[in-house]
Amino acid sequence: MLVSATEMLKKAKAGHYAVGQFNINNLEWTKSILATAQELNSPVILGVSEGAGKYMTGYKTVAAMVKAMIEEMNITVPVALHLDHGSYEGCYKCIKAGFSSIMFDGSHYPIEENVEKTRELVKVAHAMGLSIEAEVGSIGGEEDGVVGAGECADPNECKAIADLGIDFLAAGIGNIHGKYPDNWQGLSFDTLAAIQEKTGEMPLVLHGGTGIPADMIKKAIDLGVAKINVNTECQLSFAAATREYIEAGKDQQGKGFDPRKLLAPGAAAIKETVKEKMELFGSVGKA
Ligand code: 13P
Repeated sequence: MLVSATEMLKKAKAGHYAVGQFNINNLEWTKSILATAQELNSPVILGVSEGAGKYMTGYKTVAAMVKAMIEEMNITVPVALHLDHGSYEGCYKCIKAGFSSIMFDGSHYPIEENVEKTRELVKVAHAMGLSIEAEVGSIGGEEDGVVGAGECADPNECKAIADLGIDFLAAGIGNIHGKYPDNWQGLSFDTLAAIQEKTGEMPLVLHGGTGIPADMIKKAIDLGVAKINVNTECQLSFAAATREYIEAGKDQQGKGFDPRKLLAPGAAAIKETVKEKMELFGSVGKA
């Protein structure tokens, strides 16, 4: 069932668990994530970066694929199709293409401009029945060309953006896209606690979910995180399983070169990663 992410995240925040956003790149990714969510009876958010949208030939293709897959695979758990780190123009394209949720990442604008653009997009998204995420304080690292310095968000700015009526808020708390460096200082729980205090019921979003230790994930959920984004970890498990298949020479045995066989270990590895994360986030059985 394709839905906006509003209700599933309100429920998650109230129930002290988090819903995973797993980024998709192609049909295999989408199929593995949807199948796992259904098997575990978990709500799920499919994240689409602007780069991945372009790769899949455009947002209309993505929306059509996801809607058809939900129907053909008999997916009954709540699924949100969400633009990840959307630009102002990208948000409008996804609203038009039939996404059920968008993120407007105005974190690189001065706060006044971030507020104005977010305010406008909240109105448009809500009028069309979509949920909307906004960002304050950039997420460190790089994801599909979106580069962030990784500074912690100012709780007062978080409140200003939350008050615009957004549905969930991404706030930088020392999190980074991609692998964490060895000298990473960890999440800033003081910042997270201060943001939660200012923003109350607002479900908070933790980007950069790859490689955050389980105890930090649990503490973040305790402090109001209700959505956790995972991208790199699925890429790493897909790549490792594919490498193993090829290095074992399996693509050269029988019909092992058949793309459906060649991509199967990677697709199974994504399912395993998504399952681990859903169990850790506590969303299993919460559909
Ligand atoms: P990772 O790639 O670090 O898992 O981060 C994903 C993310 O935050 C998507 O916005």
